[in-house]
Amino acid sequence: MKILFSTGKGGVGKSTMAAAAAWQLSRDHRVLIISLDPAHNLGDIFGITLNGGRKQFSKNLHLGEVDLQQLSKEYLKREIDVLSGSYKYLQTLNLDNYFSVLKYSPGIEEYALLTSIEETIRNEEDYDIIIFDTPPTGLTLRFLALPRVTITWIDRLIQIRQKILEKRYTIQKIRGNSEKGTEDSGIILSYNEEDDDVLRRLRSLKTNYETLTSILEGSDCTIFVVFNPDLLSLRESQRLVEGLRELHLPLRLMINNKVTGDNEAMAEYVESTMIRSAGDIPVQRVALHRELQARDTSKLYEIEEDMVTPLLSVLNNAW
Ligand SMILES: Nc1ncnc2c1ncn2[C@@H]1O[C@H](COP(=O)(O)OP(=O)(O)OP(=O)(O)O)[C@@H](O)[C@H]1O
Ligand SMILES: [Mg+2]
Repeated sequence: MKILFSTGKGGVGKSTMAAAAAWQLSRDHRVLIISLDPAHNLGDIFGITLNGGRKQFSKNLHLGEVDLQQLSKEYLKREIDVLSGSYKYLQTLNLDNYFSVLKYSPGIEEYALLTSIEETIRNEEDYDIIIFDTPPTGLTLRFLALPRVTITWIDRLIQIRQKILEKRYTIQKIRGNSEKGTEDSGIILSYNEEDDDVLRRLRSLKTNYETLTSILEGSDCTIFVVFNPDLLSLRESQRLVEGLRELHLPLRLMINNKVTGDNEAMAEYVESTMIRSAGDIPVQRVALHRELQARDTSKLYEIEEDMVTPLLSVLNNAW
């Protein structure tokens, strides 16, 4: 299975290019396109209503939207359930107060999005290609950075947990009790690594994030950056490319979108600057289709620029 991410500054045409690519690729491949942008317009582009769900559009093409609010709620609920289960013995500290403000904590949306990407990649084996249409640069870079950041944190937390278990073990030995540690409340506290739910969960999370990192950085994943022939788009695209490089993520194609006879000189300049910044990444030019600007979405299917050849040729060893 191949995975594509359409990225770029707000309004450059990420969704339109992702949709055109999905449509063209679906002639020969089974394609799922998912919008990760809280301000969805994938349904509008194809002229159908998705309402945060999934629909079959044609024989080979499925469309989906993630409902970020719902996703964040579900993500929090799952995590809170796990935490309450693991820390029942701390009930006196009133964890509910702590949980009720968790939803305001930074990073929840990014984790929810990442979890949804991870689940989609893991569960949707029936597709040849999954295309993710992303929100504008900032949020996208933040959720793409999460797997590596999280692995670093988990490693630290595993060390701390191991120290806690060592201390519990020492206390247990001093007490001379041959059974597992118990609190006054009668709740059993583990001191062996094998018995410890927290350590087990940390390790399984770490494995999930390592798997996801290797998928995102691997040869089956392609990130393409869409930009326009203007200087604002150039600056932000340069920052995006720099971010992707730092995160070791595979930028393999750039799309110079909305080129016209009038902006051709600027298109040349922006394109050559981007090639220098990104290091010889191929560029696909797409003309400004005035009918599309008039929001005539049926014109999407008339974008004649070929998305299939550059995308498939950059996906290593593709078909
Ligand atoms: N090649 C093109 N020719 C004409 N209009 C285009 C082209 N590409 C995109 N557009 C138009 O530009 C607008 C923005 O496109 P789109 O929604 O795809 O951008 P986006 O990068 O996904 O935006 P957002 O950051 O809001 O998600 C839309 O009105 C779309 O129809
Ligand atoms: Mg969009």
